[in-house]
Amino acid sequence: MALNPFVFLTFLNVVTCASASHMPQRLTLQLLRQPRSQEWDSRSLRSVEHLKLKYGGSRDIKGRASGINLLGNSQLDSDYYGSIAVGTPPVSYNVILDTGSSDLWLLSSSCTQGCADSNGNLLPSLDTSSSASFKNISSAFQVPYGTGMAYGSLGQDTVQMAGFQVAEQNFGVVTSQEGVLPSSLSGLMGLAWEGLSTSQSTPLWQNLASSRAWTDPVMTFQLTRFGNATGNVKPLEPGGQFTMGFINKSMYTGQIDHQNMQTSPAPLYWTLSVTNLTVQGESISLATTEQTAAIDTGTTLVAGPADAVSQIYANIPGSQPCTYSQCTQGQYTYPCSTAVQVTISFGGPAWAISPADFLFEPIQDTSGQCIANIGAIIVSPLSLGSNPPAWIIGDTFLKNVYSVFRYDPPSVGFAALSTAALAMNGIDASPPSATMGIPLAIVTATSSSSDMSQRNGSSNDNLRHKKSLLVLLLSAFLSWFVLFEYRP
Ligand SMILES: *[C@@H]1O[C@H](CO)[C@@H](O)[C@H](O)[C@H]1NC(C)=O
Ligand SMILES: *[C@@H]1O[C@H](CO)[C@@H](O)[C@H](O)[C@H]1NC(C)=O
Ligand SMILES: *[C@@H]1O[C@H](CO)[C@@H](O)[C@H](O)[C@H]1NC(C)=O
Ligand SMILES: *[C@@H]1O[C@H](CO)[C@@H](O)[C@H](O)[C@H]1NC(C)=O
Ligand SMILES: *[C@@H]1O[C@H](CO)[C@@H](O)[C@H](O)[C@H]1NC(C)=O
Repeated sequence: MALNPFVFLTFLNVVTCASASHMPQRLTLQLLRQPRSQEWDSRSLRSVEHLKLKYGGSRDIKGRASGINLLGNSQLDSDYYGSIAVGTPPVSYNVILDTGSSDLWLLSSSCTQGCADSNGNLLPSLDTSSSASFKNISSAFQVPYGTGMAYGSLGQDTVQMAGFQVAEQNFGVVTSQEGVLPSSLSGLMGLAWEGLSTSQSTPLWQNLASSRAWTDPVMTFQLTRFGNATGNVKPLEPGGQFTMGFINKSMYTGQIDHQNMQTSPAPLYWTLSVTNLTVQGESISLATTEQTAAIDTGTTLVAGPADAVSQIYANIPGSQPCTYSQCTQGQYTYPCSTAVQVTISFGGPAWAISPADFLFEPIQDTSGQCIANIGAIIVSPLSLGSNPPAWIIGDTFLKNVYSVFRYDPPSVGFAALSTAALAMNGIDASPPSATMGIPLAIVTATSSSSDMSQRNGSSNDNLRHKKSLLVLLLSAFLSWFVLFEYRP
C-alpha cells in the first residue's frame, strides 16, 4: 500500500493563537478527511405548508418543517458530504458538511486554479451567470485551507437544502484554491455559529433555525463506517443521514444525552467539555484548561493537547510518536495487535470510540505498527472565544454515535446508534445522488455583507472578525492539512 497521491486538504476551520513564538512551528497533525458525495432528499418533509418567513417576522410560525439529506462517505470515512441546490433555476452540488466552520463556498465555473480532482477531472462548479437570482456582493472571500487559501468573491443566491430554501444566502464563489477537493464535491457548507464566519455571513442553518422554520431546533448526523469494511469498497459510499428540524428516532436507541453549551459569550464552535477520557479502562487526567472540545464533522480525526494525548499512549504498551515519513508531528503508532478502547465523557455517559475507528492504517513493514486516528495538536490552533477548544472531536468519534446539534438552548447531544443505523456500516451501495426537491419552507437570510453597516455588531465584534480573518490567514501557513490514502 504505497502512499497514494490522493491528498485532500482539510478546511482550516480553526484559528491559531499565532504569537510570534509559535509562528515558525509547522503543522501539527494531519487531519484526515475524505470527500464524500452527497445527495439530498426532501421527501421527508412532513408539512406541505409553504412558509414565507422574514427576519423579524412572526415568532409563532405554524407550519414548521423538517427535512433529511442523505450523505455520502468519501475515501473510507475521510469526509461526509451532502447536497445543496443553488440558484434559479436550482442546480445541485455536493458539499462537505462541516460543523467546525461557518462559511458556505462553492467552486466557480470561472475557477482558474485548483478546479480539478486528483485525477484531473474538473469538479462540478457554479456558473453564476446562469442563475437569475445571483447577486454579486463584490467583496473578497477567502477561505483558509490546509496548505493555502481559496480565493473568490462573496455572492448571494437562493440555496436549498433538505427541503428548505433560504433566499439571499451569502456564500463564497471560489475562483482559485490550493488543494484538492475530492471528486464529485464542489465546496463546503459550514454548520457552526455565525460568529465564526470569516465572511461575516449568517450560515444557512442559522438562518433557518432563527427564523423558526424547523419543527425542532436541531440538526442531526448519523455517519457510516467503511474504514474496516471488507470486500468491495468504493471511493464513494453511502455516508449516513443528516437531518434539519427533527430527530430521527429510528437512528438511535436509549436516551439522547444533551449537554448544554456555554451561551455567553455567543457560541462560535459547537463545544463541549471533555470531563473524562479513558483508554483501556484507565482515566486520563485533564487540566481544566484542556477540556473544551469542538465537535467537528468536517475533521476526520480526534486531536487534543499534546500532554493529554501522550497520556493516552502511555496506556498503550508498544505505542510511540510516529517517526515514519507518512506521519506528521503529533501522530502516533501502536501495535496493530492491540484493540484500543477509548471512551470520552462530556459530562454524561462515556461514549466509546471503537478499536476499528482508533486505527488509521498499518505501516507497511515488519514492525507490526499501525498509525492511530487520535493525535496531538502541537501548535494550538484553536483560539477564538474565551475558552477556545483544546480538542477537535471529529469523525473518528462521531461515527460511533448519533449526534444532535441543538440551536436553542444550544447543546450537543449524543445517543447510541440503533441497529438500523449500525446496519448501514460497510454496506457497499451507490452513494445518494443529488436530487432536487420542492422546497417546503422558505426563509430569507437574516443578514448579509451589504447590510453589514446596519447590523448591530459592536466595534468589538468587527475587530474580532477582522482579527479572526487575519489569524486564519496566518494559520493557513501553519498547514493544517490532511493527507490520506485511498486503499482500493
Ligand atoms: C429515519 O431514517 C430511516 C432510515 O434511514 C428512514 O427510512 C426514515 O425515512 C427516516 N425518517 C424520516 C422521518 O425521514
Ligand atoms: C463580483 O464582482 C467582482 C468585482 O467587483 C469580480 O471581481 C468578481 O469576479 C465578481 N464575482 C462573480 C461571481 O461574478
Ligand atoms: C471516568 O470513567 C471511568 C469509566 O466510565 C470511570 O471508571 C471513572 O471513575 C471516571 N472517572 C472520573 C474522574 O469521572
Ligand atoms: C468494524 O468495526 C465495528 C466496530 O468495532 C465492528 O462492529 C464491525 O464488526 C467491524 N466490521 C468488520 C467487517 O470487521
Ligand atoms: C442597534 O443599535 C442601535 C443604536 O445603538 C439601537 O438603537 C438599536 O436598537 C439596536 N438594534 C438592535 C436589534 O439591537
